[in-house]
Amino acid sequence: MAVVSTSLSGAAVSTQLTQFSGLRRSFLKLDNSNSTHSFFQNVDSHLRLASENKGCRGVVTMAGSGKFFVGGNWKCNGTKDSISKLITELNSSTLESDVDVVVAPPFVYIDQVKNSLTDRIEIAAQNSWTGKGGAFTGEISVEQLKDIGCKWVVLGHSERRHIIGENDQFIGKKAAYALSEGLGVIACIGELLEEREAGKTFDVCFQQLKAYAVPSWDKIVIAYEPVWAIGTGKVATPEQAQEVHVAIRDWLSKNVSAEVASKTRIIYGGSVNGGNCAELAKQEDIDGFLVGGASLKGPEFATIINSVTSKKVAA
Ligand code: PGA
Repeated sequence: MAVVSTSLSGAAVSTQLTQFSGLRRSFLKLDNSNSTHSFFQNVDSHLRLASENKGCRGVVTMAGSGKFFVGGNWKCNGTKDSISKLITELNSSTLESDVDVVVAPPFVYIDQVKNSLTDRIEIAAQNSWTGKGGAFTGEISVEQLKDIGCKWVVLGHSERRHIIGENDQFIGKKAAYALSEGLGVIACIGELLEEREAGKTFDVCFQQLKAYAVPSWDKIVIAYEPVWAIGTGKVATPEQAQEVHVAIRDWLSKNVSAEVASKTRIIYGGSVNGGNCAELAKQEDIDGFLVGGASLKGPEFATIINSVTSKKVAA
């Protein structure tokens, strides 16, 4: 945060000035040779402070520069009928415009979803193969996903890691191939409860991030999903989530670049619902959500998408 010194009534004071453009936080540089009068004019015309008493922290913003992103992971749920009902609900929902929205149906229903869901919502697959298709029974290739209109794939999900047994190397390979073919990747990471309790949360997350060593970070959204919070109803507190999101952004800054750290969306997943999304969304480094159970209910998923509005109001 920029620290600006000026002189009021002869006494030197330091002021932290943050400029808001839409949802974004940027840093305002003021020339401290300006007079007191022009200093306040500048503050007045450039800052959107929620309240003079609360100061800069009174406006909730996004620390990153990417658009808010909400994904619905339908997992292995649904039938033709239930999915048709969900699509009707989503098509009739009013969604905020400044949010990227993606849903990940089971493979067998992707075509049905593609043919009936509004184009406002993009489609992700829940898995993809490590390379070009061929003699790989039961697998789905990136080329096939693109052929049926998928723009994204969810990789590294904890259920694939801990139930199916995928390791970092295998997941990294899938991500690299999907990205090389132009598919966006929702790259999941997250620690087990025992890892959190052993104080290893950051180590585990950084190790998993490292495995996504890919040529370009342009089309990656990172989903931080503590395993103990997935499908358990035990959501991370906004502070717990924010703490890890800041650490992830810092890791990106140190290990990739400051630009990637700023642009990359870091979304939270794990028991997000219509009741807890607003408080989570207010955290500066939470750029959206990956939602499981609650994404199967159209109106509730719409509420989560529209929680972007809670970033715009005073805390
Ligand atoms: P949940 O799942 O919202 O049901 O906890 C999240 C996820 O697995 O992505």
